Amino acid sequence: MTTVQAPDIYSPDAYVEGPPHEVFTELRHTDPVHWQEVPGEPGYWAVLRHADVVEVAKHPLIYSAQSGGVIIENMPPAQLENAKLMLLSMDPPRHTHYRRPVAPRFRSKVIAQMEGRIRAMVAEILDEAAEARTVEFVQEVTAKVPARVFGEIMGLPDDDLGHIHRLAEQLTSSQDPEFAYEGPAEGEGNGASLEMAMYAINFANERRAMDDPPDDLTTFILNSDFHGAPMDDISFGTFFVQMVTAGNDTTKTMLSAGLLTLLEHPDQLAELRADPSRLPGAVEEVLRYDNPLHYFRRTATEDTELSGTRIEAGQKVVMVYTSANRDETVFDRPQDFDIHRNPNPHLTFGIAEHFCLGAHLARLEARVFFEELLARFSAFEPAGPAVRVRSNLNNAYRAVPMTLTPRH
Ligand code: HEM
Repeated sequence: MTTVQAPDIYSPDAYVEGPPHEVFTELRHTDPVHWQEVPGEPGYWAVLRHADVVEVAKHPLIYSAQSGGVIIENMPPAQLENAKLMLLSMDPPRHTHYRRPVAPRFRSKVIAQMEGRIRAMVAEILDEAAEARTVEFVQEVTAKVPARVFGEIMGLPDDDLGHIHRLAEQLTSSQDPEFAYEGPAEGEGNGASLEMAMYAINFANERRAMDDPPDDLTTFILNSDFHGAPMDDISFGTFFVQMVTAGNDTTKTMLSAGLLTLLEHPDQLAELRADPSRLPGAVEEVLRYDNPLHYFRRTATEDTELSGTRIEAGQKVVMVYTSANRDETVFDRPQDFDIHRNPNPHLTFGIAEHFCLGAHLARLEARVFFEELLARFSAFEPAGPAVRVRSNLNNAYRAVPMTLTPRH
C-alpha cells in the first residue's frame, strides 16, 4: 500500500526555488483550509482561498492578531508581550486607539507630497548604480530606497541609516543564516529588535530636548495623543522597529522582484517603456504576482468554522496571501503576469483593520522607481543567478547581480 505524503508548505526549504504555487493550486481545490504540521510546536490552519482570507481578516475579534502574534512560530512570552506594542499585533479597540492618530500621516494625499523628494533620492541611488554598471541590485540599489525614504519620514541622520538597515535585515530574515544577528543586545527577544528599539528611544529623547523640532513623523508621534496619553519610550521604540521592518524588506523586495518579473516579460516591459502611464497598473500586478510577504497569522479566540472546517479556540490560522492572490475564482489566468489586469483585488497589503499603513507610500516608491529606472537604462542583463531568501514568510531575493546599460 502506498501512502500519499501531505505537502509541506511550512518548511522554508519549500520556498527556496520560488513559492510552491502548484501545491497551493491543488490545495485550493481539494483542501482550502488545510492543516499543516510544524516541527516542535502546534501546527496551523493554512487559509488558501481569497474569500476565506478576507473572512479571517474582517473578523479581528474571532481571529486575533494579539493573542499569538502574526508569525507562525509561537514567541517566548516576553517577546510576545513586546510584539503586542506593535499595531500589527494589536486587536480592537486598542488597535484603533493607536492607528487613528498616525493614519492621517499616511493618507494618499499626504504621501503624494513626498513624490519630489522620493524622486530625488531614487535618482541619486540610480546614478550611483549607473556609475558602477554591474551591481548587486538588491543591496546596492533597491534596499537603499526604503531606507532613505524612512530616514526622511522620521528625520534620521543619514549616517545612521546603514546601521538601522542592517538590523532590519537581521530582523526580517532570521530564518536565513546569512542574516544572523551578532550585535551587543541580549535578552529573550530578538537582539536586532532590541538594539533598534534602544536606538529609537535615544533618538526620541534627543528630539524631545529640541526647542524647535522639525516637522516629521517622529515629532508628530511624540506630540500625538494616544487615547489620552502620549506614546511612552517603549511604545515608541517598538513602533519604530515596526515601521522599519514593515517597510524595508517588503519595499526592496517589490522593486527587485518587479524588475526580474518585467525582464521575464519583455513585451510588457517594452510596453511600459513606450507608455509609462501604464506603470500604476504594472505596480499592482507586481504586487499581486510577487507579493513580498507570504502570510500573516491570527489565533482563533473561540471555536468557529471557516468554509466548513471546524477551528478550535487557540488554534493558529494563517492567511496565505501568496495563494489568495492566485485564486482562480477571483483572477482570470492567475498564474500569468499581466500589467493590464483590472480590477486587481490582490491581498498583498492585507485587508480591513490591519490594511497596510504604508500602502500608498510603497505604491509611490514603486512607480517613481520604475519611471526613473526605465528612463535611465536601456538594458538590464543578469550578471549571475538570482538567489532567494530561505523563508516561508519573506518572498524575497537575497541577491540579484545585474549589469545595467545607461541610455547615453
Ligand atoms: C510592498 C511593500 C509592503 C507590503 C507588501 C506590506 C504588507 C503589509 C501587510 C500584508 C500588512 C497587513 C498585516 C495584517 O493584516 O496583519 C501590513 C501592515 C502594515 N504595514 Fe505594510 N507593507 C509594505 C510596505 C509598508 C511600508 C512602506 C510601511 C511604512 C513605512 C508599512 C507599514 C505597515 C504598518 C505600520 C502595518 C500595520 C498596520 C496595522 O496593523 O494597522 N508597510 N503591511
